[in-house]
Amino acid sequence: MFELDGRVALVTGAGQGVGAGIAAVLAAQGAAVAVNDLHPDRAEATVAAVIAAGGKAVAVPFDVTDYDAVVAGVAAARSALGPVDILVPNAGIPSVGMPQLPFVDTNPELWHRFIDLNLYGVLHCIHAALPSMCELGWGRVVVISSEAGRHGLDIKVALYGAGKAGAVGLLRHVAMEVAPQGVTMNALSLGLMGNVSSEWAAKVARSVPRRRLGTPTDIGAAVAFLASDAADWITGQVLPVNGGSYS
Ligand SMILES: NC(=O)c1ccc[n+]([C@@H]2O[C@H](COP(=O)([O-])OP(=O)(O)OC[C@H]3O[C@@H](n4cnc5c(N)ncnc54)[C@H](O)[C@@H]3O)[C@@H](O)[C@H]2O)c1
Repeated sequence: MFELDGRVALVTGAGQGVGAGIAAVLAAQGAAVAVNDLHPDRAEATVAAVIAAGGKAVAVPFDVTDYDAVVAGVAAARSALGPVDILVPNAGIPSVGMPQLPFVDTNPELWHRFIDLNLYGVLHCIHAALPSMCELGWGRVVVISSEAGRHGLDIKVALYGAGKAGAVGLLRHVAMEVAPQGVTMNALSLGLMGNVSSEWAAKVARSVPRRRLGTPTDIGAAVAFLASDAADWITGQVLPVNGGSYS
């Protein structure tokens, strides 16, 4: 039902984790996928996995926090595969790690690390990809957000939450601007992903009504739905994908 044949998707931060899962699902649904990552080798590894599974993909490594690089990357995706009509801004975990600190102990360098990636990274990609979607009269933007952007959590990730919430605020407004041109923009608000590899993760998993953590395939399936024609009347929304938590 959620066929994406003939579509061209750009997934950022897709060299591993959630983004790699999204790229795999979109390719399995028929989209050609431009796989972005900061690390070219990671992007190439995802491309190789998609091709091995019978899909079509190319690597477009760039840093989403650099607007000029994003514009060049969107152009590279277009030359290789055609105009991007599905954009999935997924990059959101800084490569150098994610310290959990009380806000009062943070500094401007750390503020920029999170806001540049989670707000400006999304803003850059949307700004670069939207014009051709509007021109074509069809487009989908699915921002990968977090429950940390929807709720206050007692885990000392205020800057991450602020960046995620900022991107959602942006998309809600821009979604209203482009809806008449056939472009929808939504966000997925993810709960904790991963395997139960520690006692802490096992405890979190036990607290999730569905009794497990999320997988990249769970997220890929939700993206495929929102990217499909079937979701044409859904825009400006945030869908929690969290096994039933925090709802
Ligand atoms: N993992 C979770 O539990 C969880 C929970 C909620 C939301 N999320 C969100 O899901 C998304 C993916 O998370 P993940 O766990 O798969 O992350 P990850 O760290 O496993 O992978 C992220 C990828 O993004 C790339 N990246 C980092 N900075 C980049 C940049 N500036 N430009 C381009 N690529 C860049 C990294 O190189 C990496 O390959 C993020 O937006 C994250 O906030 C994750």
